[in-house]
Amino acid sequence: MDYEQVRTQFDNLAEVYSEVTSNQHAFFDSNTRYLQEYKVAVAKQLVQDPTTVLDYGCGIGLLQEFLEGYYPKASIYAADISQDSLSHLRRRFPQTKVLDCEAALQQCFDLIVVSCVLHHVPLDDRESLVSRLVKALNPGGNLLIFEHNPLNPVTQHMVNTCPIDEDAILLRRSECKRLINLCDDAEVKKSGYTLFFPGMLKALRPFEKWMRWLPAGGQYFILAGKK
Ligand SMILES: C[S@@+](CC[C@H](N)C(=O)[O-])C[C@H]1O[C@@H](n2cnc3c(N)ncnc32)[C@H](O)[C@@H]1O
Repeated sequence: MDYEQVRTQFDNLAEVYSEVTSNQHAFFDSNTRYLQEYKVAVAKQLVQDPTTVLDYGCGIGLLQEFLEGYYPKASIYAADISQDSLSHLRRRFPQTKVLDCEAALQQCFDLIVVSCVLHHVPLDDRESLVSRLVKALNPGGNLLIFEHNPLNPVTQHMVNTCPIDEDAILLRRSECKRLINLCDDAEVKKSGYTLFFPGMLKALRPFEKWMRWLPAGGQYFILAGKK
């Protein structure tokens, strides 16, 4: 799929996105909010006090309430290519500062979160998008990418059976790191696997910090810093 087809796909899915993702994630945890909170909790461990946060490829805004909760002092911005998804987000979170993607990439932020977006970006466009995201960081700012872990069979199953991911081409952690390393002005500060524990094993989440090397998590993260 090209950029326009991806946009149309997510416009068409905006109304049912929440329901579709709940079904998809049910394999891991039936409460889809659990998964979003899990990721933002990881973000907070990695980056404590940004003043400005951009949720790039925010979709209908599933991360918003947790970004607001974990970063109460930060200004939270959101951008996506799908206008229908953004309309949905605006209705639920009128306080969020919604930006057009181009406008967002012209500004600078302390933290940019890019959650499950890159696997929808056409292969030829990934390098330039990552480079532009790095450029949209303040000096010392951080880019935090979350991606599905293609090495996890449960993740593979969820992706292969989910209508949202029909266009998805997953990328391994090494490929994601390579995209960062191609940027002269960025370096990988940390990376690891995450989403090991469904809600019923939530109490074990503190142990995850010793498991980041294990390619068994549902997703992985790459934290890149702007030099
Ligand atoms: C799977 S959804 C993830 C939504 C949200 N980040 C989350 O974690 O719930 C992928 C989102 O990325 C957006 N997207 C895809 N390609 C994009 C691009 N090149 N620039 C910005 N957003 C993009 C889609 O419109 C869609 O809303």
